[in-house]
Amino acid sequence: MQYTSQIQKNMIDMLEAQFTQFRDQLDARDVASKNQTLATLPMPEHGAGLNDFYQFFNQHVAGNLSASNGGRYWGFVTGGANPCATFADWLVGLFNQNVAQRGDSIASELELHTLAWLCDLFYLPEEFKGVFTTGATAANVLGALSARQYVGKLQGMDVALDGMAGLAIEIYAATPHASMVQSLGMAGFGQNSWHQVRTLSNSEAMCADSLAHMLSNSNCKGKLVIASAATVTGTDFDDLKAIGQLCKLHGAWLHVDAAFGIFERLLTGPNGKTAGIECADSITLDCHKWLNVPYDCGVFLTRQPSYLVQTCDVQAPYLNTASGDTNFRSMGIENSRRFRALPVWATLIGYGKEGIKKQIQNNITSAQAFARWLAESEHYELVKSCELNVVLFRPNGSHSLKSVEACLAAINTSGRVFMTPGVWQGKPIIRAALSNWETSESDIKQVVTLLQALGK
Ligand SMILES: Cc1ncc(COP(=O)(O)O)c(C=O)c1O
Repeated sequence: MQYTSQIQKNMIDMLEAQFTQFRDQLDARDVASKNQTLATLPMPEHGAGLNDFYQFFNQHVAGNLSASNGGRYWGFVTGGANPCATFADWLVGLFNQNVAQRGDSIASELELHTLAWLCDLFYLPEEFKGVFTTGATAANVLGALSARQYVGKLQGMDVALDGMAGLAIEIYAATPHASMVQSLGMAGFGQNSWHQVRTLSNSEAMCADSLAHMLSNSNCKGKLVIASAATVTGTDFDDLKAIGQLCKLHGAWLHVDAAFGIFERLLTGPNGKTAGIECADSITLDCHKWLNVPYDCGVFLTRQPSYLVQTCDVQAPYLNTASGDTNFRSMGIENSRRFRALPVWATLIGYGKEGIKKQIQNNITSAQAFARWLAESEHYELVKSCELNVVLFRPNGSHSLKSVEACLAAINTSGRVFMTPGVWQGKPIIRAALSNWETSESDIKQVVTLLQALGK
């Protein structure tokens, strides 16, 4: 099959039909799909063509995809895909650039411009350089790897070239995201390698005084501190100013996982809850969360890009290009890279700083309205006051479904909303995270009606 004018026309017609159908039915669609059984078909010996693929997709797949792109998917920290980003993402597929090296396409320039705009959006100094990643997990891996190279250099070692045998490192964290723990394993430190820093009372945020004590008592030559802005359950922010000063004093690398919390900066500015993040050595953030661009799109930023390049760069004759500039493949895990910057660029152009700020504020306002209803409701307990976009609650003793597990299962099988479990201060809770740009008052009302009915 070739691209012909007929094929192109079919592609556009099918996309239009699918697009209209999906958008028109998004509100009615089950938020978590119930049927996930796919008929096993023999792989065709001879190509069946585009139309047959489309038929197959409609028959077996389309109806059973979830409405995770809609306003009532409140699991994990899940963003939607705004129109500018969705359209740009179609263009990414159409043009299919490989943003690996510089010198053969304007795509790498656009990635650099977009990263600079993100720094501007988040009040970060220009010295931060970075790279788009598949998500926050990949960015956290780059944080761990950059820190590894940094502590190696302090000890006269080049870990990227010679390995890490004999490397001395101590890692400190209070409530690291699971992906950060995973990253420590991937970097060769081990998932159990980190020292637990005490948290503040009724909070997941790090106690900076405890960190100060631990750092002062350490004789280790290499230190890495992992901070959160914000934690995924309590949405608690570590005191980055205090932690940054401690890291400077003790020569520790500071990595901040700010996957979604950095967006809070749009509301309160550089002196709000994330004050001090500009002193971090490296930062993780996610665009497929609160910037509402399609998967997959995270960002790694670092004030010390040389350690990242030392870690990721490798030479081979066939990789040499005319450009003397640093290539993106020398700043990340992948050699070949999707044109992830385009949907982000499109979103920043399409909505501007004010438009994005409004989306963040809307989600917080909606989450707080939902939390207020829970706090006053007959059958639920609001577990923690809602300060950002995550609401923690559980059924109380008067609820018809006694356990958190049974209540969550009933919520999710309703198909009207999707939430995920969590633990707060050692006890199970239900966690609702509102990060979709389309979540509206009507969504909140629908969920409240459902919860009211389930409680009785
Ligand atoms: C704080 C934090 N870090 C990292 C991640 C992992 O993000 P991703 O799924 O994009 O890898 C998440 C996801 O919810 C998160 O909330």
